[in-house]
Amino acid sequence: MAKKEKLETKSSTLIVIGMIVVAIIIIFFAVNPFRSSAQDKQIIRVAHNQSAEHPTHTGMIAFEEYIEEELGDRYDVQLFPSELLGTQTNMVQLTQTGAIDVTVASNSILETFNPQFQIFNLPYLFEDPEVYHAVMNDPEIINPIFEGTEESGFATVAWLDAGTRNFYAQPGPIEEPADLEGLKIRVQQSPTNVRMMDLLGGSATPMGFGDVYTSIQSGIIDGAENNELSLTENGHGDIVKYYSYTLHQMIPDEVIVSTALFDQLPEEDAAIFEKGFEVMEDTQHEAWAVKVEEAKDQAENEMGVSFNYPDTGPFKEAVMPLHDEILEANPSFQKTYDQIQEKAAEVSEEANENEEN
Ligand code: GCU
Repeated sequence: MAKKEKLETKSSTLIVIGMIVVAIIIIFFAVNPFRSSAQDKQIIRVAHNQSAEHPTHTGMIAFEEYIEEELGDRYDVQLFPSELLGTQTNMVQLTQTGAIDVTVASNSILETFNPQFQIFNLPYLFEDPEVYHAVMNDPEIINPIFEGTEESGFATVAWLDAGTRNFYAQPGPIEEPADLEGLKIRVQQSPTNVRMMDLLGGSATPMGFGDVYTSIQSGIIDGAENNELSLTENGHGDIVKYYSYTLHQMIPDEVIVSTALFDQLPEEDAAIFEKGFEVMEDTQHEAWAVKVEEAKDQAENEMGVSFNYPDTGPFKEAVMPLHDEILEANPSFQKTYDQIQEKAAEVSEEANENEEN
């Protein structure tokens, strides 16, 4: 074969090979089974510290379904329950950096990120769950606090029900503050909660939620304080058999969203996300009401936990100085504090009217 002919054959072979390679690349990207369609979508990471059976997770599933129904071509909502992405404190920090988009954090630990949250951590702030719900559902009271968190790197978009907090300790039922003396009681990592325990006479042991089970089991602590779902969903009722209705706090969980996400969401999408948070909140509240009743029944009848109902008066009296301490240190809280008292009066007036009719 002449030299020129040889060169021509070689270059046409290269062209064919080149075309085949391009075709393979195109086909590969079009049909590659390992390439999830989610790659084209923005992943929205939603994290919390409860189990996948907890009402909070039920709320998250409702959010995922709503967003994916409305905007599923562009967003892939992924849920990470059970502290998979860290403790609540870690998750809040990751939300501030934008590594997590949405997280649920107890109002207790949020006070270390933004002092305004302190107000809802005060013991015996709410008379009963009706007042607590009426306050949390009143935008005039909560919006100034929720809207003030942007400077901390997140927006607060919803509140989730976490019921009432009560003591449970293995040595025995707590009937009066004196029963807490000498007991090591786990509290959330919040200065307000540590101070509350000091005033009640117990020894406050702050730690993350995920460490409580083994700490009780190994005797590092004598007990804790939380709602009834911690007995069932977190298994604390397997090792602690006394649960005392001191009703000392009603602390909401807050849903926070990274400002990094909100800043880049197109306006129409942001409106749909806002609606998604409402769906999440409503679903969680409904699921909570059902699940808390089931938890009481299960703890008492299947786990052998006994409940007692102490006179809450002496507990309240012991911790009331904390209200003054917090208000004196933060005079700007007074307005919210007064609004809460007014709301309490309204709720009891309505209840009285209903009783009369
Ligand atoms: C409740 C609350 C959680 C919180 C936990 C705790 O379960 O819903 O958000 O982490 O108490 O005591 O740490």
